[in-house]
Amino acid sequence: MLFGKPIKPVRKAVFPVAGLGTRFLPATKVMPKEMLPLVDRPLIQHAVEEARDAGIEEFIFVTGRHKEMLEEHFDYQPELAEKLEAVGKKDLLDKMRTAEMPEGSIFLTRQPKALGLGHAIWCAKKLVGDEPFAIMLPDDVVLAQKGCLAQMVEQYNKVGGNLVAVMDVPREDTSKYGILDIKADHGQLVEIKGLVEKPKPEAAPSTLSIIGRYILQPEVFHHLDAFEKGAGGEIQITDAMAKLIGKQAFHGFRYDGTRFDCGSRLGFIEATLAYGMRDPEIGMHVTNLIKKYGSA
Ligand code: G1P
Repeated sequence: MLFGKPIKPVRKAVFPVAGLGTRFLPATKVMPKEMLPLVDRPLIQHAVEEARDAGIEEFIFVTGRHKEMLEEHFDYQPELAEKLEAVGKKDLLDKMRTAEMPEGSIFLTRQPKALGLGHAIWCAKKLVGDEPFAIMLPDDVVLAQKGCLAQMVEQYNKVGGNLVAVMDVPREDTSKYGILDIKADHGQLVEIKGLVEKPKPEAAPSTLSIIGRYILQPEVFHHLDAFEKGAGGEIQITDAMAKLIGKQAFHGFRYDGTRFDCGSRLGFIEATLAYGMRDPEIGMHVTNLIKKYGSA
């Protein structure tokens, strides 16, 4: 029990995937940015697998125009499966099957207008219903022994309430993130007294920033209902979360792992190197290539 509420399990995750991905043009002219491959699987699959490993059962995509490829990616592909089976390519078949989601586990809703991340989450309100839920931003990829969301779920099952994954950033970068106003820092767990979306470095209450993994209580939707605009003229999830503070437990969570910003070209390249080095088939070669080009 916490703030008088029993801790309900996290079974659902929301994936906001309606964004345009203009930073990757022309690659994303036709293809959704979430389909860009990080080594051998698209960004969206990295996020879905992390959620699946954390025990998530229902996967809610907030999608938009020209994003159909994302839902197709998780369908069964009987023709290809038959062909691979016929020629005995079991390894490829197994790889393909990592992208198959069981019937009844993927749910779709649409964000008809780009009004901000808070608005995208609000579009999933009916599908989330009255239970806690996770949010996964597929642009943020976390390389970790145990998945970032699985670490958060483990923590959540002890403390309940709301939990956001956090990392320290250089002060000059605070205007790219939601930033914590810290009440008490306990190391891995940080008590929060406020949240500010993308403050200027001089106005930032700390340098502890939110990355794209959240576990929230459904009451956050009451605050999103107002459609209030915040930073950048957009409806911000950070502003709605800030209104829960003091009414429900709210913590920042320092996860174990390395986060890559795959919403930027440089972050994407860094993630490709880091994941590539760990690939069981080509990892050694990638490491050698890094050495080769590093000394050129
Ligand atoms: C969003 C959130 C921000 C958070 C960030 C993490 O911003 O609004 O609070 O810190 O994701 O990646 P965006 O990157 O969509 O501008």
